[in-house]
This record gives sequence, C-alpha cells and structure tokens, in this order.
Amino acid sequence: MLTIALPKGRIAEETLEIFSKVFGGEFAFDNRKLILENHGFRFLNVRSQDVPTYVSYGAADIGVVGLDVITEQNLDIVDLLDMQLGKCKVAIGIKNEDELDWSRADIKVATKMVNITKNYFAKKAVGVEVIKLYGSIELAPLIGLADAIVDIVETGSTMRENGLQVAEDIMESSAHLIANKNSFYAKKSEILSLSESIKRFI
Ligand code: PRP
Repeated sequence: MLTIALPKGRIAEETLEIFSKVFGGEFAFDNRKLILENHGFRFLNVRSQDVPTYVSYGAADIGVVGLDVITEQNLDIVDLLDMQLGKCKVAIGIKNEDELDWSRADIKVATKMVNITKNYFAKKAVGVEVIKLYGSIELAPLIGLADAIVDIVETGSTMRENGLQVAEDIMESSAHLIANKNSFYAKKSEILSLSESIKRFI
C-alpha cells in the first residue's frame, strides 16, 4: 500500500480527480475525514506546509505539494514529477505608489517564505530584514509593518484589491509529486508506475 500526503483544498481535489481517471471510481475524502483508503492507496489530508514533513519522515511514501513549499523547506526528498497543477508564482510585492530601492541597506520584507526571501536577497547582495507572518501578508506594507512582501501570486487579485503591485518575480511554482527517499528505493516500480500513470492525465 502506498501512503500519499495531499495538501488540503484544490490541489487535493484535482489530484484525486486524476486518480479517478487513472483507476476509475470516485476518490474523495468524506466530510472532515483526514484519511481516505481506496484502490490500495491511503491518502492523508494535511496542511500544504506539512506535506514535505510527512514525506521526509516516511509517514507518507509520496506527496503532492507546491514547488514553493519544497524550495522553502529544502528537505531531503525525491522530486518525481511536475503535475502542472496549482500554477502560481512567488513575487515581491510593493505598494502601487512605491518603487523597490535596492540601494537601501535595510529593506523590511514580510513573508511566510523566510528562506526563499533570504536567499533571493542574499543573491543580490542586499541586506534584508525578514518579518515572518502566517497569512494576510498583503496587509503588512499597507499598515507600515514592512516595505515589501514576498508572497504567492496566482490571479493577482489579492495584491490588486489591496493597492499592491508586483515589483519582481522570484520563481514559478506548481504542484510536484515527491517521494520519501527510502520509499522510493523500496517501492520503486510501484511509485514510478504511478508517476507514469499520472503523467498521462496531466
Ligand atoms: C495566497 C497568497 C495570496 C493569495 C494570492 O493566500 O498568500 O494572499 O493566495 O492569490 P491571488 O493572486 O489569486 O489573489 P491563501 O489564500 O493561500 O491564504 P493564506 O494567506 O492563508 O496563505
């Protein structure tokens, strides 16, 4: 049996739709249930940021999670397949009336993605003060908590509605299929054949 960690919400639903197409029948979590067993698979319904944790500890053999989360956490896992779901980008946002002044020594950036932010500014050799938030990131520059944000932009409407603009793109992201290293070697043919089947439906 393969255990598969899925991130709550749309990516889980779209992944389960792919399983329905591959194996037939309905794949869906019952109301509030966190485990689904079907066709010899066990699916876990977890928070997006927790998917790499379940996979890297081997509590799940494989998982589906955004490349942004994988990059932020930098854990030792196998990246099997870009599932082309949940496409978005990670970008720097600032107020419409502002410009990003790279010559400033102490840009304050609010974000959930502390490591991606630090690495990006380090590559540009610009000092940054990172302020960690857990949500509603777009609020920070409006209220003077930060000069800029680093956040996910999907449709762009959250930034637009809050008078923010993208100053710079950092990376593209989409959901990837990942595997625990030990599981990958122990269950290689099973995992690779599943990955191939999924690939045919994306
Ligand atoms: C994400 C992200 C932005 C928004 C971007 O938040 O942090 O706020 O989506 O999407 P858009 O470009 O389509 O407007 P999410 O809804 O995941 O909530 P969170 O703040 O709890 O992370």
